[in-house]
Parts: sequence; structure tokens; C-alpha cells
Amino acid sequence: MSTSPQVTVIINNRDLLEWPRRMVERLERLPGVAEIVIVDNGSSYRPLMAWYRTIPHRVLFLENLGHTAPWTSGVLDTIGTDLYVVSDPDLDLSALPDDTLPYLAGLLERHPSLGKVGLSLATEGIPTDSPYREHVAKYERLPQERATGPEGLIAMPVDTTFALHDRRVLREYRICGMRAPAPYVARHEPWHVVRPEGDFAYYLDHVEGRSSSYRDFTRHVKSDSVRGLYAAYAQEHGQKVSTKWDSYLEVYEDAFRPFKHEAVDLLEIGVQNGGSLEIWSRYFPRARTLTGCDINPRCGGLQYPDPRVQVIVGNANEQATFQRIAQRSPAFDIIVDDGSHRTNDVISSFLTYFPLLKPGGIFIAEDMHCAYWEEYGGGVLNERSCAAFFRRLMDTVNSDHFREADNGSLFQAWLPRAQTNAFLAANPILSVTAHDSMYLVRKASPARPRGLGREIIVGDVAIADDRVLRTRDAMLKKAA
Ligand SMILES: C[S@@+](CC[C@H](N)C(=O)[O-])C[C@H]1O[C@@H](n2cnc3c(N)ncnc32)[C@H](O)[C@@H]1O
Repeated sequence: MSTSPQVTVIINNRDLLEWPRRMVERLERLPGVAEIVIVDNGSSYRPLMAWYRTIPHRVLFLENLGHTAPWTSGVLDTIGTDLYVVSDPDLDLSALPDDTLPYLAGLLERHPSLGKVGLSLATEGIPTDSPYREHVAKYERLPQERATGPEGLIAMPVDTTFALHDRRVLREYRICGMRAPAPYVARHEPWHVVRPEGDFAYYLDHVEGRSSSYRDFTRHVKSDSVRGLYAAYAQEHGQKVSTKWDSYLEVYEDAFRPFKHEAVDLLEIGVQNGGSLEIWSRYFPRARTLTGCDINPRCGGLQYPDPRVQVIVGNANEQATFQRIAQRSPAFDIIVDDGSHRTNDVISSFLTYFPLLKPGGIFIAEDMHCAYWEEYGGGVLNERSCAAFFRRLMDTVNSDHFREADNGSLFQAWLPRAQTNAFLAANPILSVTAHDSMYLVRKASPARPRGLGREIIVGDVAIADDRVLRTRDAMLKKAA
């Protein structure tokens, strides 16, 4: 048995971040790991891409080759060791003993015909409402208890769970081998998930065809992300219609996620057939009120079994409608304007309802491609369009730095100066972000106030320009 084997660990990943990140952290400290290589199957999860840029390990970016990628991608020709581990990215390796790799290597050396020797998987502690619970009880636990091979190995073949191979013996995908007994045990993370969130929700929402080992799982569990809920809704019969462009779903997800488990009050201007309001009611399980408003009298016929949801029929930009909305809920966390998309209506809705937004709340204007079209009162060079209005609003985020004008002068096309200044003083804008056809406006809050805050100067060596240190010294003197 080789006492200190050198092993390359190949993690096959797609769109998962937290689990592989923790695996890599454990592997970086595991004796015998010569190299860690991540084989990425066409991921699109942005935080994952950002993480890849920070790690000192090789990442092989591929199209989605699926679970056999470590063997079909050619990566085995590029590694510096004959011994290699292939692993899925969804294991908790934190309890692995430090001698795991020498132990597996010794077994493989003595029993090369096995092809691979893998870890076994912990089957305890799976939540009662895990969709995997039955599967684990039926297929994963019993063989582990019954069948044993040489040297205490468990006669249970390994697919793509963490297993050691020798490329001189096995360099193609095969389900074979045996599993090590305790304590060489990993925890299979998805078995413990009841409500997918974050990267796992993103993964489930972006599964392609049959290339996922979570296929069975996703059949039973839908992620509760905006995309997941739209996908689930699409499969139900007799549901109210909603229409959204694909790219909006991620923008909504990013904007809504911080509010997901809060007792939110939401207003949607423009509900049409009512589907989006229903989906928002599913997205926010603890929402207090979900109010829709639509000018179309037919929307009076929309029925929701959920008492938190109510539709008010009327023109959102009429005082009477505003009063009914404000009576139902005097302050909102989220306001979505998906109404007429006409420039005058959009600006009027913003000026009318933004004051009802709570500090820290978010206002979303949808379908803003209309802002560039003449028939909606817009136009690319039209300085009175709602796109121009939101651009000006974006300028107000920096109004502390204005020298030759004030906020009031920015909005002369729409509002008298004094009114603008009063509006912005009462409704401080934290940020305005533009996406394709969507504007997101956040109201500042005591938790995240507007402005630059204090100047932070760190370090004490300034070889290019030491004025900054003098500024800091002056600040410190003043504070003392
Ligand atoms: C694009 S649809 C809404 C779609 C819906 N939010 C969804 O995602 O399925 C626009 C709706 O806005 C309504 N609308 C237009 N002008 C309005 C106004 N001034 N006040 C309230 N609703 C208005 C229309 O009647 C129409 O039903």
C-alpha cells in the first residue's frame, strides 16, 4: 500500500456553489490531494462564476456534458497523477478522516478489479418531509446493512459519488466498485433539503433535459423561486393567466429574495388575468396583503381563495382608486407597475405610489421597452419619456455632489421645482437600476441611508500620494 498517494480530485459541477465550496475547503486540507479540478457543465449562476475567479484551482469550462463529463471531457489526460477521485459536487466531506485517501488507495491497490472504491453515504437524520426519504430507506440503507465485501467493504457499486480510481485501470465511466465502511462516510446534501433555496433552487430551475442526477427529486419538488413557481404554475390546469418575459424572472428573484420570508405588503398595478398576483402570493408565504389594481372592470370577477389577495378595480391614477388602495394597506414593501406602460401613467403612478413605499421598499416598473415607443408617449430621444424620467431619478442618487443645479431643476419637464424637492426630501432614493425593460427604484431606509457615509482610509504606506494619510491624520485629530 502506498502510504502517501498523490490524488487529483475532479469535482463535476453545474450551477451549485455552497456545497462544492465547502467540499473544496475540506479537500484543501485533506492529506494526499495533489490537485483539485472542477469540471463545469455550462453553469450560468453568476455567484458561482465569481467564486471560480477567486479559487486557486483549475476550472474546466464545458458545455453541459452531464454526469459522465469527468471521463468524456478529456480532463484525465491533463492531470498529473494516475490516481484520481471523481465526485459529484453535493457532498458534505467535513467528517472524513485525514487518512481517507491513503486508505482508499490501499484498498484499490489490493483489489484493482473493483475499478473504484468510494465513500459510503450517511443515511441517518434525513428529514421526514425530505422527498428522498423513502428512496433512501428503500435503496440506500438496506444494501449497506446487508452486503459486505473484502476488508469490510460494502458491496454497493458507485456511480459518481466520491470514489478513487486509477486511470491506468479505469478511464471510462462505469458504475462499479464498492464503498468504504464508517468512518469513511459523506453526507449527501440534497437528501436533507426540504425547501430548495439559493444556488440549489437556481440549479433546479435550470436543469436541462435528462442531464441531471436530481431528476427524480425535481419531479417531486419545485423550487419556490420566481422561476420555479412560474414553471410549476405552467403545469397546473385551470390557473389564471400571467405573461412575463423570461429575463424578468431573474430580476424579480433578485429584487424579491430579501423580502421572501417577511410579512410583506405588495401592490401590483395591472393584474389583467390575475396570474402574477397569484404567483406572488405563493412566493411570499408570510405576506400580509397582496393588492392588485386594474382599470378593466372584468378584473372584478377575479376570485382568490387566499384572503390576503384582493383586486381593486379602477384607474390607478385616479384619486378615488388611490384612496381605496391606501385604505387597504397604507404602506407597501413592494410596488410593481405593470399597468398601461404609457409614459404619463408610469410617471404618475410612480409619483402617486412611491410615497406609499416603506423605507427600504422597492418600486418596479415593468415593460419599459414601451418608453422608447412613440405610441406609448415615449421615444429614444424624447426627453419627456418615462425612460428620461428614470434617468433623471438616477441622477438624484448623486444629488449631494451637484454643484450648479439642484434636484428640482432635473424634473422641470414633469414637476415644479419646489414640488420635486419636497417629493425627494420625503422619499429619499437609495438606488435606481435599469434592466432590459425594467426599472427598479429603492427607497432609502435608516438601515441603508443615502449618501457616501464616512471616508474609510486603511493602510499606512502611501508611496504615490501621501495626502490621503494627512487627511486621515487631520480627521483623527478632529475626532480626538
Ligand atoms: C400587462 S397587463 C398586466 C399583466 C399581469 N401583471 C401579469 O403579469 O400577468 C396590463 C394591465 O394593466 C391594466 N391597466 C392599464 N392601465 C391601467 C391603469 N391606469 N390603472 C390600472 N390598471 C391599468 C390593463 O387593464 C391590463 O389588464
